[in-house]
Amino acid sequence: MGEQQSHATAPPPLVRAIDIAFRWPGRQGTALALPDLLLARGEHLFVSGPSGSGKTTLLGLLAGVIMPRQGRVEVAGTDLRSLAPSRRDRFRADHVGVIFQQLNLLPYLSVLENVLLPCRFSSRRRLHARQQAGSEIEAAGMLLERLDMARDLWRRPAAELSVGQQQRVAAARALLGRPDLVLADEPTSALDAARQQAFMALLRRECRASGAGLVMVSHDERLAEGFDRRLDMAPLPSEALP
Ligand SMILES: Nc1ncnc2c1ncn2[C@@H]1O[C@H](COP(=O)(O)OP(=O)(O)O)[C@@H](O)[C@H]1O
Ligand SMILES: [Mg+2]
Repeated sequence: MGEQQSHATAPPPLVRAIDIAFRWPGRQGTALALPDLLLARGEHLFVSGPSGSGKTTLLGLLAGVIMPRQGRVEVAGTDLRSLAPSRRDRFRADHVGVIFQQLNLLPYLSVLENVLLPCRFSSRRRLHARQQAGSEIEAAGMLLERLDMARDLWRRPAAELSVGQQQRVAAARALLGRPDLVLADEPTSALDAARQQAFMALLRRECRASGAGLVMVSHDERLAEGFDRRLDMAPLPSEALP
């Protein structure tokens, strides 16, 4: 009885993906088939696999940008399919920070404005940032400092930064307001090896500091070091290729 009660109050895992299968419309074969994937709060997962094995597709499913044909994805106890699309967008803004391959900074906005974007879309992230630092701007500044972004860059348009600097801005944006989960898709692909390692160390350290779970996708095995767990995506079966 006591055991059941503690079960009932135990927090749900950060991510639970159960028996998911996905196929892009108009494509032959399955782009992605996964047995169960379970991620605890704060856990760091490294996802590897050759190009085309479905790594980016998996992040899209975990972000709720695309829905599986089969199975279900739960984030922080919420079945993403149970949310209408607009609620799903809000849920993502509240709970998930993303760092894409192309970084997706808004080039004409300043560094600080880019980092603050999640707080424009999510009252939960806004609240967290205020609790943490007194204001969103203070929280953004704290992250930028921890990520070694010189203060004189904060008001500069993102377009004027180097790729390495943009990477750190994207990381600060993903982390602002303590999302539960950070999804990173080959975020270091434009950096040389030494800078890749340095950026990964920063990203992992900041995820740990904010308690965020991290799912990081890369075809580069050297970046797997320091992760709690890993998932290797198999190459697609040949009949699934166009
Ligand atoms: N938007 C899309 N429309 C159609 N097919 C896609 C789309 N995105 C990816 N695919 C296909 O799905 C498969 C997995 O792609 P992806 O998830 O991008 O792999 P990875 O990130 O591991 O390189 C590939 O065969 C790819 O061509
Ligand atoms: Mg990809």
